[in-house]
Amino acid sequence: MFPAPSSYWLHFFVFSSLLAVEAYAQDLDATYHPDLRQDVFVKEKYHFLNVPGIGMFTVYDTFDCTLECLSNPSCLSLNLAASKGADGNFWCELLTSSKYINPGEYKENKTSHYFFLKGRFQGFQPTSCFEYGQQGASKDGIYKIYDNGGNSFQAYCDLRSEPGIAWTLIMSWSRENRVVSAFRNTSFQNNVPENENSPNWDRYRLSLARMRSLQVHSTHWRATCSYPTHGIDFRDYLRGNFKDFNIVDFLGSGECKRVEYVDIRGHNGTNLTVPFWQGWALHIDSYSGSCEFSATVGAVSSEDNFGYYGTFNPKFRCTQTDNSTTQWWFGAHLKK
Ligand SMILES: *[C@@H]1O[C@H](CO)[C@@H](O)[C@H](O)[C@H]1NC(C)=O
Ligand SMILES: *[C@@H]1O[C@H](CO)[C@@H](O)[C@H](O)[C@H]1NC(C)=O
Ligand SMILES: *[C@@H]1O[C@H](CO)[C@@H](O)[C@H](O)[C@H]1NC(C)=O
Ligand SMILES: *[C@@H]1O[C@H](CO)[C@@H](O)[C@H](O)[C@H]1NC(C)=O
Ligand SMILES: *[C@@H]1O[C@H](CO)[C@@H](O)[C@H](O)[C@H]1NC(C)=O
Repeated sequence: MFPAPSSYWLHFFVFSSLLAVEAYAQDLDATYHPDLRQDVFVKEKYHFLNVPGIGMFTVYDTFDCTLECLSNPSCLSLNLAASKGADGNFWCELLTSSKYINPGEYKENKTSHYFFLKGRFQGFQPTSCFEYGQQGASKDGIYKIYDNGGNSFQAYCDLRSEPGIAWTLIMSWSRENRVVSAFRNTSFQNNVPENENSPNWDRYRLSLARMRSLQVHSTHWRATCSYPTHGIDFRDYLRGNFKDFNIVDFLGSGECKRVEYVDIRGHNGTNLTVPFWQGWALHIDSYSGSCEFSATVGAVSSEDNFGYYGTFNPKFRCTQTDNSTTQWWFGAHLKK
């Protein structure tokens, strides 16, 4: 799970750097201390991470508490009383989680300060929502993700709609925005970010670099319709895996590609081939019934599904109204 401190490092830290540590302990607001390189605590005043602790201690000062954490290989962060108790001591609570793993449980709090280990100990640079799911995070929402270059960005994670799979949002747009280049005449291979630093449902697309980085850490992809309204009930839904069909690198017209599950207007199927187009935005044309799956019954002429939307069908949930939205996601199954 998390890299444990090497005993060499711990000894070095405890015995060779005491002076440095003491100097540092008086200055815990600093996010970086030259004598300790990157392995330092960062203090966040008046905050509290509301997760089960692995030990509650009574300590004389901040230094005692941070040392308890350093002596415990599973400690990633801690809550410390903001003021002394009646006995003149502070309470100190060690945590195996951190605000990065459980951002939903991180709150402002008048009675507590929060400290987390930065640098080597922090150790947790999740490259997709999968890693948050793997660490037990279960709330849907915005999480901090690192790309392959080590740069972080905010991404939307769906950790709940399909138990056992964690999904990262790649792009989302409303029918109204169907003419925007990022959703119309560009394939996944084109680098056409839209609001990539502020995930939203109406107009959002990651840069190619971020998509590529997420692709490396994903086994599956899916498309959903008006997810913020309907969630996942597998109507107007598409899921496949990168092994059978690499949607990022594909270019072609009406090629039959294997998917795990598809539903278009209630027509559905498992493990069968579906005709895909990409050159402009990736999509299925359900008017064309040339592969194993067909949703031609009830289709409008040249009906586009899950993208492009040159023509669209109001009976398809992605294109019911101007406010209806389409999402593409990359994901992976959580490991037991
Ligand atoms: C604030 O922190 C205390 C511990 O000092 C905790 O018991 C309490 O639940 C926290 N309150 C909130 C609103 O998080
Ligand atoms: C898409 O269309 C826009 C506007 O016409 C154009 O600027 C852009 O180059 C096109 N992109 C591709 C990949 O064809
Ligand atoms: C599959 O399609 C049928 C109608 O063809 C529908 O009744 C059923 O609910 C669909 N299944 C799912 C899981 O959507
Ligand atoms: C899906 O269908 C193909 C071809 O019929 C078959 O080879 C493959 O084993 C099937 N996969 C699953 C998971 O059922
Ligand atoms: C779209 O959303 C706006 C604002 O919420 C609302 O006023 C409008 O009626 C909606 N339009 C449709 C076609 O649903």
